[in-house]
Parts: sequence; C-alpha cells; structure tokens
Amino acid sequence: MLETSQPVHNVLYWSHCRCKAFDVTDIEIMRSSIRNNAANGLTGFLYREAGFYVQLFEGPKSAVEHLHKTLLNDRRHYGFQLIFASQSNQRLFVDWSMGYSNDAANQLGLASQKIQPSDLPAENVVNFLQNISVG
Ligand SMILES: Cc1cc2nc3c(=O)[nH]c(=O)nc-3n(C[C@H](O)[C@H](O)[C@H](O)COP(=O)(O)O)c2cc1C
Repeated sequence: MLETSQPVHNVLYWSHCRCKAFDVTDIEIMRSSIRNNAANGLTGFLYREAGFYVQLFEGPKSAVEHLHKTLLNDRRHYGFQLIFASQSNQRLFVDWSMGYSNDAANQLGLASQKIQPSDLPAENVVNFLQNISVG
C-alpha cells in the first residue's frame, strides 16, 4: 500500500460530535471509513472524547484532499478545526485503515481540564493517537 518514494500527506483535525458517545453513528462512520480508506490507500486513527472527535488521516495527496473536503460537509460533526496538514516520508498508522477509540477512559483529559484538542500541543495529540493505536 505504501510507496516509499511518494510523500505521505496527512491531516490532523478536531471537531464537535453531533451524536453521543456509543451512538450507532460512530459505527456507521467507521464502516464507511474502513471500506473507503482501504480502497483509497488511506490510514489513520479516529478518537472521540468529551464531545470532540480528533482524527489523523494520511496517504496519497489526492485521497487526503478528497477526504478533507468530504469531512467539511459531513453533518455528523461540526466546527472542523484543522490542526495541521503536512507531509512526511512515512506513515504513522500503517496498520489501520481507520482505527477507533472512544471516550470511555477520558484519556486526553479534555473534560476534566476543560480544554479542547487545540489547547494541547499537536505533537502530544499525535503521540497520544499513536499510543492508543498500539493498545
Ligand atoms: C468524524 C468523522 C470521521 C470520518 N472519517 C472518515 C474516513 O476516515 N474515511 C471516510 O471515507 N469517511 C470518513 N467519514 C465519513 C465521510 O464524511 C463520508 O460520509 C463518507 O466518506 C462517504 O462515503 P460512503 O458514501 O461510502 O459512506 C468520517 C465522518 C466523520 C463525521
């Protein structure tokens, strides 16, 4: 899937969830994500906590740009806030067409600290996503 000669484009953003945690909506989002991302060479991780989604997706430029535009129009979330759009020579989530974790453990501490994802350094958010993606 990964062509090492091609740069890997990536997007990290956060948004507000419209549905409650454990709603079937997240399962529907993940069903499309896994199917589409596998077909389009995208990998990444979606995390939700305290009413926020935080997602990193990565892959070929055209697929990343297409998903970015699609997400802006998806009414299952709102207030899309780009944290970064960048490129790299390697993927962060090689094993995940789209991994998922929810807010059962409130691990980022967003609610308890009364902060939103952009209040954290982007590097901490990426490290956090990578850590939960490996269990
Ligand atoms: C928070 C969130 C994350 C999403 N992540 C992805 C994703 O990684 N890949 C994807 O194809 N669609 C994702 N979607 C869904 C897209 O916005 C869109 O509904 C979907 O790609 C349409 O494809 P479908 O018609 O095959 O379901 C996400 C939606 C939300 C609300």
